[in-house]
Amino acid sequence: MSQTATRSTIIRLLSHMRDGKEVRDYLNRFSRLDQSRFAVVKVGGAVIRDDLDGLAAALAFLQTVGLSPIIVHGGGPQLDAALEAARITSERIDGLRVTPAEAIPVIRKALSAANIAIVDAIRESGGRAASVPTGVFSARLLDEAVYGRVGAPDGVNLDLVDAAVRGGEIPVLACLGETDDGRLVNINADHAVAALVKTLQPYKIIFLTETGGLLDDKGEVISTLNLASDRDRLMSAGWITGGMRVKIDQIQSLLDDLPLTSSVSITSPEGLSQELFTHAGAGTLIRRGEKLLTLTRKPDVDWPRLEALIAASFGRKPIAGYWDRLAFDRLFVTENYRAAAVITRMEGVAYLDKFAVLEEARGEGLARAVWQEMVDYAPHLYWRSKTSNPVNSFYFHECDGSIKAGPWTIFWKGENDLSRIPARVSEIAGLPETLETIR
Ligand code: ARG
Repeated sequence: MSQTATRSTIIRLLSHMRDGKEVRDYLNRFSRLDQSRFAVVKVGGAVIRDDLDGLAAALAFLQTVGLSPIIVHGGGPQLDAALEAARITSERIDGLRVTPAEAIPVIRKALSAANIAIVDAIRESGGRAASVPTGVFSARLLDEAVYGRVGAPDGVNLDLVDAAVRGGEIPVLACLGETDDGRLVNINADHAVAALVKTLQPYKIIFLTETGGLLDDKGEVISTLNLASDRDRLMSAGWITGGMRVKIDQIQSLLDDLPLTSSVSITSPEGLSQELFTHAGAGTLIRRGEKLLTLTRKPDVDWPRLEALIAASFGRKPIAGYWDRLAFDRLFVTENYRAAAVITRMEGVAYLDKFAVLEEARGEGLARAVWQEMVDYAPHLYWRSKTSNPVNSFYFHECDGSIKAGPWTIFWKGENDLSRIPARVSEIAGLPETLETIR
């Protein structure tokens, strides 16, 4: 089968999966990008050692559907082994590998071997890849007296990368740099990624690790992290480790240099396509994100923007006069009005009048952030939703109870006085329509 035939077969297959529409939307979104700006993928040495086939299969798959990531790899364990075999002690200061001049040939050889191993494995998986061990990063010596031949990148030459992408090959870069006077230097993989990202301005930055994401205190993968709204809470959590703090700081500074639409995903080779092509993902998605606003006064609300968000989210506009009649209590909204919860007051209890999220913002964790903030404020809460609304599975999960009433499902949470439920339910079921009917 030709490459294009394979591609369309796979896309057709994917579109028929449960999340088919999501897959197609993401594929379209990624395919529209200039491919050398689609994604920078960092692969750690442990993944090369333990999961080379999984890695190669995941990358070859992306290529089959027409996407071209750029790979940057480290080689920690490989370098440790090679240096030990050469009887060169390798010490670390501030996380950087002190590199005496005599270590350079050893490092070059070990990194080239790791580089070729990735390229070969991609080819064996049916993909096309180009080895780019040097020629991309120029560097100055960081501090020769302290670190030896460790370079701080001060320039990125994309000629080899662009040539590979043009030729339909996945470029595989090692973290070696050259100084002005032509000396080879060892560059820390995170520093190399940062330099490359700054120059390329990619849409996605992907870290492939064995754990497949950032882990919380229970050892579970944290699904999304919106730095603007979650960072402080996370950084002050008692359980967060020093290594994780450093990682989050690094990611924040990567994202600070990129457009708001760019994001970082930490996942495993096995999780990669699910992470890229579904809203729910598989791993940790980190974005600069948006601040959450809590507005308690009607005049502070940007009503046209809120109306646009509601219309886009429900496919229907609020009816005329909706806003004027609203017994407004407060609005939880992201700063760019991409997700919002409108709260009103019924006797003694909060009522969630609207919960709206832009389709393109799903998968970013914004809805969850708004929901969390709202529930913290209103643990005792009622809301309703049309029984056919696809969001209901989320609501069923979040509510304490629910009941059908005509076209509506009424949900509640935090109700201590069960005897009050029937009256509230019938009151809510009787509330007038708030969105225009579709003609
Ligand atoms: N597919 C989207 C992306 O890669 C969303 C991923 C969501 N991932 C997550 N771990 N919550 O940009």
